[in-house]
Amino acid sequence: MRLLLPLLVIAGACPPECRCDSRRRVYCNDRGLRTFPSGIPQETQILYLQDNILESSSALNDGLMKLTELEALMIYKNRLTEIPAVNSASLRTLRLNTNRITRISENAFAKTASLRELILDDNLLTTSGISSVSFNGLSKISILSMNQNRFTEFPPELPGSLSALYLAQNQISFISKRSTTQLTNLTVLNLAENKLSDGSIEESTFANLRQLKELRLGHNFFSSVPNNLPRTLTELSLIANQIMTLKSACLKSFQSLRSLDIAHNRLRWVEQNAFDDLLALDRIDLSYNSWTCDCYTKNLVMFLQTSHSLSEINGDIRCGSESIALETITDDQLECETIKPNVSVDQNLATVQFSLLGKESPPMSNYKLHYNELSSNTSSSVLISPEENIQLQLSNGLWRFCILNDFLSPELSLDDCSKISIGLSASSVGPEVTEIAAVGPEAIMAIAIAIVSVVSIVVLVVFITCRRKQYSQMKYLSSTEPLYFVPKRFIPSQNGTKSNTKELTLDASKEFAVTLMLRQPPEDNRLYKVQSDASDVYDTGFSGSSRQDSSLFI
Ligand SMILES: *[C@@H]1O[C@H](CO)[C@@H](O)[C@H](O)[C@H]1NC(C)=O
Ligand SMILES: *[C@@H]1O[C@H](CO)[C@@H](O)[C@H](O)[C@H]1NC(C)=O
Ligand SMILES: *[C@@H]1O[C@H](CO)[C@@H](O)[C@H](O)[C@H]1NC(C)=O
Repeated sequence: MRLLLPLLVIAGACPPECRCDSRRRVYCNDRGLRTFPSGIPQETQILYLQDNILESSSALNDGLMKLTELEALMIYKNRLTEIPAVNSASLRTLRLNTNRITRISENAFAKTASLRELILDDNLLTTSGISSVSFNGLSKISILSMNQNRFTEFPPELPGSLSALYLAQNQISFISKRSTTQLTNLTVLNLAENKLSDGSIEESTFANLRQLKELRLGHNFFSSVPNNLPRTLTELSLIANQIMTLKSACLKSFQSLRSLDIAHNRLRWVEQNAFDDLLALDRIDLSYNSWTCDCYTKNLVMFLQTSHSLSEINGDIRCGSESIALETITDDQLECETIKPNVSVDQNLATVQFSLLGKESPPMSNYKLHYNELSSNTSSSVLISPEENIQLQLSNGLWRFCILNDFLSPELSLDDCSKISIGLSASSVGPEVTEIAAVGPEAIMAIAIAIVSVVSIVVLVVFITCRRKQYSQMKYLSSTEPLYFVPKRFIPSQNGTKSNTKELTLDASKEFAVTLMLRQPPEDNRLYKVQSDASDVYDTGFSGSSRQDSSLFI
């Protein structure tokens, strides 16, 4: 009987256009209601009024004020223009999405102190429609959703108890540091699809959010990862922004970050060690970016190849205009050209400049001009930017100028250098003067060998020339008159001891004076042809011809 009586009372009191159930729930949703139905039981805990055409009115407020045991009010998809009045200390959920609410009047929630979840998505709320006392009394609220409204700034004075705040699809372009100071318990913040850019967020605004774990900043206009994001983050989405570079500082110390989404940006470059601190990372999406296929992409490729711990790498990551998958790319496809400094010299004033020939350079690149006199050990360096002219007053000597990009290789590669002589006699200072200073032992050895070789060659050439001279004299003689062959044994020995052929040949001029023609075997491949008509007369012509028939050697 005790059980039955309340049931009968409730059943009896249910408005005809609604349905009431035994769990103190009343269903008046989707019934085309224009006015608040009368006769809703005072004990109602959950009231469904969504999908009607209710407008804000005092009748509505009066009706709702009677329901002092209300725990949840579903009044979304109506035509309300203000927050309806509710008087229930037990109200936990209030769903007001898809109405026409433009402002939250002061103390609108003064009588709903236990509210935990307030949904105001898809209304017409503006920054000026919220005042510092709008949320008075909400000391336990945990979830506040105001997606798809008309905020242009981060709403101020939000309750400090919030753990999740949704402000996606607004037009927020500014977040003041003050507006977030009290949000120390916030763990989830969604600011996707707003108008946030690099200058939108006051310095250390996010530092207030000491518990923040999940931050959604997708579909905004950031061109770099915002500074000072809380290092407590486990999930960060920056999808669809305009980020070009990942600097290592901006991802530093995110030791709890597990998911990072930077897909659909304009990423071209990753600074060295940018991902080093992401020790907990198990999901990263870097697809649909503008990665270059050059040395600046090496860091990324290396990261992707070595992070086997990543459970999921979304999308395929491609580089260059030909969209080469980084998965398949080889190191030699990821090179940058070396940069040579252009040095012009006017007496002792050197003007140094370099150009990237229209190529873009990453913001973290740091070009330095290193220069030194070759015979000195100490080198000086100075920062230099592309197209900048640096003037240096230098002493006479042979100087080396190198441009180094600290981002790429801290070591000096001589390929990147120009050597210029300054103040030396020849003012012919092409950009590539051969290095002659710094002569080591190997160089001395090489020079010695070269000198010996040259001397030998000269000696040989002189020797051969002499020989040829002799032969041409012989030829001259032979062409004018025939020489008569005198057998060797008839040649008179000039001093009795020198009677062999070699001696005769070496002293040919003397021998020819006695009309002698004698030849050695063809050490020079010279042949002496026997004339066919005179077996004892020799033609001493050089055997340039191919007629080698009946050649005879003595
Ligand atoms: C933040 O959370 C802690 C622990 O849940 C709670 O004690 C504290 O009151 C909360 N802060 C605010 C401002 O509600
Ligand atoms: C080198 O510098 C001179 C003078 O500044 C300029 O005329 C010349 O075009 C430069 N050459 C290159 C290759 O940049
Ligand atoms: C250059 O360094 C070497 C050893 O590193 C030293 O012996 C030499 O004296 C130095 N020369 C100059 C000109 O400083």
